[in-house]
Amino acid sequence: MLKPNKLAKNNFLSSLDLSTNEIIHILELSKNFKNKKLNIDLNNKALGLIFDKSSTRTRVSFQVAMSRLGGITIDLNPTTSQIGRGEPIKDTARVLSRYCDVIAIRTFNHSDLEEYAKWSTKPVINALTDLEHPCQALADFLSIQEEFNDFKDVVLTFIGDGNNVANSLILCGALLGVEVRIACPKGYEPNTSVINKAYEIYKNKNLLKISNDPSKAVLGANVLYTDVWSSMGEENQKAEKDKAFEGFTIDSDLVNKADKDAIILHCLPAYRSKEITDEVFESKKNRIFDQAENRLHAQQALLSCLLS
Ligand code: CP
Ligand code: NVA
Repeated sequence: MLKPNKLAKNNFLSSLDLSTNEIIHILELSKNFKNKKLNIDLNNKALGLIFDKSSTRTRVSFQVAMSRLGGITIDLNPTTSQIGRGEPIKDTARVLSRYCDVIAIRTFNHSDLEEYAKWSTKPVINALTDLEHPCQALADFLSIQEEFNDFKDVVLTFIGDGNNVANSLILCGALLGVEVRIACPKGYEPNTSVINKAYEIYKNKNLLKISNDPSKAVLGANVLYTDVWSSMGEENQKAEKDKAFEGFTIDSDLVNKADKDAIILHCLPAYRSKEITDEVFESKKNRIFDQAENRLHAQQALLSCLLS
């Protein structure tokens, strides 16, 4: 029977913390958790959740994942804990490591997440930073694998902001050898060091394409993916970004240029008539809610590996 394997790295801060084989293993475990073929009991292990930004999917999917694994979750709301009062990360991390077996953190600066990981003696999981959203990428590639069975010949086109979600898709895509095309307005390209790392990983360097042309990027694509134009923490840039992203809405014209069996993904929450039209969002091509469900199964798999 399939069993969770211990991961080489103790933390999951970036998609790069997993090897290709580890991602494939986690996706396999996720499918087994989803089909209820796998039953793992973590025997009351505790997951601490620190969310400096809002969350629906990540928070609830981690809570339910931990509960299904026979563990518990402690929601450490920064405003009702000493975190919001400014207790140093290195003190919080050392204390929480004495109570919790694993800690998932959603925050702004990726360096703050790394600081938690430096001082924590227990695994730390990135529940989204300004740089990456690696748990989301696991669920995304699970959704793609469910649809197409394998990743061979799959073209994933992301249209929108080259931010955390896009960065993790690029890195996870590179590790899995999936063709990833990013189309974003000039000045909103993904992180340069993420792009460079991805090019180092890809055996075929042509499999990653960054452009400013959505019409070209969608040609023949199998998966069309988008994310909000203004991320959490960028509320004051909304007017400027809405203007910059004109022409980057996934609408039926763009969808018609993709492969006829293309599917639509969105990490959610979505803003209709900004990054995606309501028509496309609600169309038969939408796999968005399967993708959201897959957060639960992928995180069950991740937790079971980190805690095995
Ligand atoms: N996709 C995602 O991370 O959603 P939440 O912000 O609701 O957690
Ligand atoms: N890029 C978005 C993702 C939300 C899940 C944000 O950071 O707000």
